[in-house]
Amino acid sequence: MALWAEFLTNTQRLIHKWKHYFPIYERHFHRFVNQDVTLIEIGCGEGGSLQLWKRYLGPHAKIVGIDIEPKCSGYAEDQIEIRIGDQSDGTFLQKVVTEFGPPDIVLDDGSHVMSHLRATFDFLYPKISKSGVYMVEDLHTAYWDEYEGG
Ligand SMILES: C[S@@+](CC[C@H](N)C(=O)[O-])C[C@H]1O[C@@H](n2cnc3c(N)ncnc32)[C@H](O)[C@@H]1O
Repeated sequence: MALWAEFLTNTQRLIHKWKHYFPIYERHFHRFVNQDVTLIEIGCGEGGSLQLWKRYLGPHAKIVGIDIEPKCSGYAEDQIEIRIGDQSDGTFLQKVVTEFGPPDIVLDDGSHVMSHLRATFDFLYPKISKSGVYMVEDLHTAYWDEYEGG
C-alpha cells in the first residue's frame, strides 16, 4: 500500500490522519495517481497531508489547501497552493474554483462543524469533476454537540 508506506516513512511536515482511513484513501484516490488531478484539501493543519497527497498523486497533481489560519500560507511549495478563507464562505470557495477549475478530489478535514461541513458540501459537491470524489473526514463529530452534531 503505497500511501501507507509514505505516511510511515514521512520525514516532512506533520500529518494528522487516523490510520484506518488509509485503505479508504487508496480505494477512492488510487485511480488519480499520475493523472492531471486537482485535489482540494480543506484544513491544512501542519501542512504534512498536503505534501503526502503530492507525493502519492505524482508530478501532474495540483494540491490546493484551504484554511482559515493565515500561517498556513507558509505551506505553499511546488504543486501546492494555499488559499486562506472560511470553508463555509461560498464567495471564497467560488474564487478558489474559478482560479483552479473543477476539483477532482475534495477532502474536507476542516472545522468538522456540521453547518460548515454542510455549507461546503452544498457548494463544492456540484462543482467537482464528473469522475470526481468528495470525502469528509472525522464524521464522528456528527454525534458531538459541540460540533452541532446530535
Ligand atoms: C485537523 S486540522 C487539518 C489536518 C490536516 N488536514 C492533516 O491531515 O494533517 C483542521 C484544520 O482546519 C482548519 N479550520 C478550522 N475551521 C476552519 C474553517 N471554518 N475554514 C477553513 N479551515 C478551517 C484549522 O485551522 C486546521 O488547520
